[in-house]
Amino acid sequence: MSAATQALRILLVGSGRMGSAMLRGWLGQSVTYPDAITVVEPDEHRRTQVVAEHGVPVSAVVPEEWSGDAVVFAVKPQILDQVLPAYRTYCAAGCAVSIAAGKDLDALAKGVGSSVPIVRAMPNLPASVGRGVSVAVPNQQVDAKIRDCANRLLGAVGSVHWIEDEALMDAVTALSGSGPAYIFLLTEAMAKAGGQAGLPLALARSLARETVAGAAALMAATDDDPAQLRADVTSPGGTTEAALRVLMENDLWAASVARAVTAAADRSRELAAVQES
Ligand SMILES: NC(=O)c1ccc[n+]([C@@H]2O[C@H](COP(=O)([O-])OP(=O)(O)OC[C@H]3O[C@@H](n4cnc5c(N)ncnc54)[C@H](OP(=O)(O)O)[C@@H]3O)[C@@H](O)[C@H]2O)c1
Repeated sequence: MSAATQALRILLVGSGRMGSAMLRGWLGQSVTYPDAITVVEPDEHRRTQVVAEHGVPVSAVVPEEWSGDAVVFAVKPQILDQVLPAYRTYCAAGCAVSIAAGKDLDALAKGVGSSVPIVRAMPNLPASVGRGVSVAVPNQQVDAKIRDCANRLLGAVGSVHWIEDEALMDAVTALSGSGPAYIFLLTEAMAKAGGQAGLPLALARSLARETVAGAAALMAATDDDPAQLRADVTSPGGTTEAALRVLMENDLWAASVARAVTAAADRSRELAAVQES
């Protein structure tokens, strides 16, 4: 590892679904190595899993001493306010990265101190297979070095986009945070429709699943716009065109997706307000 890409020393707070996905990404991408990570996790079963899978030191409680580059908070938003103050000193020496949904930079600064560089990020579930997308917003204390550190932490489980306007986080949550569920729903609907069209259900489910996964892989492998990819598979007078005519009728499907995203963004705002009160 060159000096510019030295292993990061990380304190991971919470190794549930998302924390352990990040841990796997960090070790797999050589962002760090087992001796440079400390994990705090109260759940005994998860502690055993982390040690068995990664050989990383895991503590049930806040370590008495620690120094390093970043404290990454991957606990549920509901308990974050109680958890943050115990890590003030450690965050002050490096930076704080939180992936807790709905916890804004002000709330994070209240917990760890207003002079601490803080990155608030929203990853999504495909991070668990290294194909997530994260959106990050920095507070004013974040400099280029901290940004680079956060890029390495979040980039180990997928791509990273930065925004400067934190208010956009509700829309981000609604699009990429909740988005995987929209695709799962589409897959369910395709499988059901395949069954209704006469296919054995098991076959319809496999075809729907593999079609969605294959189309996503194709989209990921090209810079072509999805609209272009759609046009490429739509022959005039053909079967795809017949299906798309139904799906695109009066823009109903697109309007339904737009309403869904708006509902999710509204709910994200509501949840953030509840957490602040
Ligand atoms: N999952 C997603 O798709 C996703 C997407 C974007 C953002 N996020 C955010 O990621 C965060 C974690 O979500 P998750 O799905 O990974 O939740 P999770 O599976 O419940 O993991 C949270 C872990 O933190 C542990 N924990 C509780 N109190 C702790 C403490 N004081 N110190 C250290 N660890 C503690 C929990 O243990 P116990 O079970 O014993 O409480 C649990 O193992 C959340 O804030 C969520 O908003 C998740």
